[in-house]
Amino acid sequence: METKVLIPTEENIVYAARLIESGEVVGIPTETVYGLAASAFDESAVEKIFLAKGRPQDNPLIVHIASLDMLPMITANIPETAQMLAERFWPGPLTMIFEKNDRIPPAVTAGLSTVAVRFPSHKVAQALIKKTGLPLAAPSANRSGAPSPTTANHVFNDLNGRIPAILDGGVCTYGLESTVILLKGEGDITLLRPGAVTVEMLREAVPHVTVDDGVLHEIKAGQQALSPGMMHKHYSPKTNVVILDAPLQKFVSFLNSHADESVGAMVFEGEEKLVGQIPCVTFGAADDPMAQAKLLFSSLRAVDSLGVQTIYARMPARDGMGLAIYNRLLRAAGFEVIRL
Ligand code: TXA
Ligand code: MG
Repeated sequence: METKVLIPTEENIVYAARLIESGEVVGIPTETVYGLAASAFDESAVEKIFLAKGRPQDNPLIVHIASLDMLPMITANIPETAQMLAERFWPGPLTMIFEKNDRIPPAVTAGLSTVAVRFPSHKVAQALIKKTGLPLAAPSANRSGAPSPTTANHVFNDLNGRIPAILDGGVCTYGLESTVILLKGEGDITLLRPGAVTVEMLREAVPHVTVDDGVLHEIKAGQQALSPGMMHKHYSPKTNVVILDAPLQKFVSFLNSHADESVGAMVFEGEEKLVGQIPCVTFGAADDPMAQAKLLFSSLRAVDSLGVQTIYARMPARDGMGLAIYNRLLRAAGFEVIRL
């Protein structure tokens, strides 16, 4: 199959909509990362998503809508807290988990009775959803386990020949996937995946916000995860990634004392000179978490072309957007952190 990369003109959005209506999958831009979209009502189209990505069958998808009116097409009920959060944060990078209705096939939710829903702010995603009139199931458009795609080119590199088309909407604004929350009761939510709608922002809106253990800790075999995605290997380059939790000076001396041709570094922008001859990639300035988020997955993709065996990464801050950056980097590192 030839994979077309399309500029999102009106004509190409109609073309992509027709593909989706005929049971196909399409790579689409969103403000977080690129998604691989199919009609959430079409079980065999949804199965094509899992096939193209090589995604484990037990990992449910997020369903995307382009207006609040579309929510009842998917959900069994809408709690007041969800309604309030939707008005506050949608369209945008927040995913909420609802009881699903009967129109959503089990393939979308991996057999769960709940469904994850998001209303993206990206104009191309919205235009496509509106054109089809359908809620679109879409996970990130990477091969399962690889870093999420933040450009159409990343999607093409991962899925060329496996999907018919990609709409090229440029570089994603945030670069990390949406915040995922579970509603426990009115005014009581649990954070399952951190994102650009930060814990601090959620705490301003809701009295009780709990950060699930799985956000910063490895789920051990036999433990139950609230979100199936927490169980799976994620975002990993082939190179072994290790996070060094150390001030810059200690980071540099550790690198120098371990420097041989098998070692590389992943540092903040502006720190390249300090690591000398050691091959390195950068991911945004130390004081600019939004830039770090936007560049993280591209940098993780670039790591494998350095030709090293182990890459030592700088430790991001853990507040605001930093929590999301740390969460992704931890998974990329298989939870390997060295504290100096
Ligand atoms: O920003 C995003 O959310 C992107 C763009 C494309 O919208 N999508 C995305 O999808 O990141 P994906 O499939 O890569 O991640 C979905 C996450 C997984 O960790 C999955 O386990 C979790 O959401 N999830 C989906 N449905 C769930 C449910 N019913 N209960 C708990 N977790 C759920
Ligand atoms: Mg993903």
